[in-house]
Amino acid sequence: MQVVVGDAAVTDAYADLAPADLVLLCGVFGNVSDADVRATIGHSAALCASGGTVIWTRHRREPDLVPTICDWFAQEGFAPVAVGTPADGVGVGVHRQLGCPRPLPSGVTMFHFLPR
Ligand SMILES: C[S@@+](CC[C@H](N)C(=O)[O-])C[C@H]1O[C@@H](n2cnc3c(N)ncnc32)[C@H](O)[C@@H]1O
Repeated sequence: MQVVVGDAAVTDAYADLAPADLVLLCGVFGNVSDADVRATIGHSAALCASGGTVIWTRHRREPDLVPTICDWFAQEGFAPVAVGTPADGVGVGVHRQLGCPRPLPSGVTMFHFLPR
């Protein structure tokens, strides 16, 4: 196992790791702007290998962004494997990359955590 200590938002942190069979975007989508969620899903298509899996989380508070997140993954060539329901309380999604990964751009900051 390899552990990288660094800024998880910057694409350079993944230069030697992408595309990966498993990408975890957990504890991110509930702490960044909708625009950053969209951008990060776009970069998922570079981070995740063909046939690979992204597991992501997002709270279900209104306005519930989970359906839109699913639309954005679909636009990036991912198929849903499992997505929780509002009754679960917390949103957990699993999407599989159906296409071929794009090149990961260098020096891009995918998201910024919002102040609490
Ligand atoms: C909501 S917690 C989620 C922790 C864990 N991933 C989970 O799902 O339980 C978000 C964590 O990401 C850290 N964080 C925020 N921005 C980061 C960044 N750019 N790079 C690495 N960690 C970051 C925060 O300090 C916080 O510890």
